[in-house]
Amino acid sequence: MCERDAIRLVNAVNDGGFSRLIKIVGRGEQIQKVADEVAPLLSGAPGNSVLIFGKTGTGKSLVAKHVMARLQAEGRRHDTAIGTAYVNCSQTPSTPRVIRNIGQVLSSTGDTVAFPNRGISTDEYYERLWRLIDAQFDGVVVTLDEVDMLKDDNPLMVLSRAGESGSVDVPISIIAISNKINYREQMNQRTKSSFGHREFVFDPYDAEQLREILENRRDAFQEGVLEEGVIPRVAALAAKEHGDARKGVEVLKYLGQYAEQNNESTITEDNIEQVRQIAEAERLHDLLSGFPQHTKYVVIAIAHLTKNNPNADWFRTTQIIDGYRGYCDREGYDPLSPDRVRELLDEVAFLEITEKETQHSGKGKGTYNQHRLLWKPDVVEHIDT
Ligand SMILES: Nc1ncnc2c1ncn2[C@@H]1O[C@H](COP(=O)(O)OP(=O)(O)OP(=O)(O)O)[C@@H](O)[C@H]1O
Ligand SMILES: [Mg+2]
Repeated sequence: MCERDAIRLVNAVNDGGFSRLIKIVGRGEQIQKVADEVAPLLSGAPGNSVLIFGKTGTGKSLVAKHVMARLQAEGRRHDTAIGTAYVNCSQTPSTPRVIRNIGQVLSSTGDTVAFPNRGISTDEYYERLWRLIDAQFDGVVVTLDEVDMLKDDNPLMVLSRAGESGSVDVPISIIAISNKINYREQMNQRTKSSFGHREFVFDPYDAEQLREILENRRDAFQEGVLEEGVIPRVAALAAKEHGDARKGVEVLKYLGQYAEQNNESTITEDNIEQVRQIAEAERLHDLLSGFPQHTKYVVIAIAHLTKNNPNADWFRTTQIIDGYRGYCDREGYDPLSPDRVRELLDEVAFLEITEKETQHSGKGKGTYNQHRLLWKPDVVEHIDT
């Protein structure tokens, strides 16, 4: 596949309807490298499986979707049926759900008869998937996004070894994506070896790349609405936040909504701060969706503690449990057991909403855990409960 540094693609990403025509900025090399690994599928040869790492908002999902779309288009030109499936493991963390999802996406009709939501075993889902792939495709690429959220490595291992183990005659390549750089350590030995050494790390964008990414969204606004300095300012802010393009794009989207709701005919730099908190709250809300409702209450309790104790960052588990119980009391919710709250605290630390550390109380006095909120308390208070 031949790629230029900037590629126009239509509808390949869901950008919330914000812009349907996305120009990918500064990822030509990465696109090329990932494409090279999966391109052998076009000639019916086994492709490789790859792991993509990178911080949030560095274009990992966008690039994976783009490579799949390009490969499929290329396949059509070569009369090669390439099947592609994108699965976000944070929404489908269990093996049967992942396999079912892939089956539903790959079957052109979104087949819920062969891949029903319940009633069949994981083995049967696999069997049906192999039959579907053998019947309809010459090669398949599956993107497992947020792969670190999988409860176990089974789909990774089985899919990447399917050809080798004789389950299917059609080659399958996996593009696995994670924003946890130490994810590899979490994988079991056999899965690691099926992924070989094909790993790509996406670096954060710099302010110039972010400015270009955002400039390309200018057409979502009517001419003259965005004041001169707005895009550079949003880009500079996103660059400061570890080069997260999503943050920049979201702020821009919210600026549009803000102007619409308030009947503003122009958007100024002053509006940026106003919408940033709302944008961040939505992101946090997305991060927390899929987790029990009480996870949010625990995070809110930590935010209250942080706000009410300007001289402290770290709070002990027991303090947080007390704060959480107080919050539940005020809001009329039945609090969960302290052990369950401890589990939720581990989950929010895993999501990097908080940081957790173990402290030693002193000789013979044992240890305790303490937690620190990594988000601004004001943002947390904006999330919907
Ligand atoms: N190179 C780029 N060119 C244009 N837009 C980009 C680029 N990179 C990212 N974006 C935009 O930024 C947003 C986030 O990108 P993407 O979803 O690919 O990030 P990610 O690395 O998968 O992040 P996460 O780890 O949080 O899933 C999307 O709206 C995407 O369209
Ligand atoms: Mg992503």
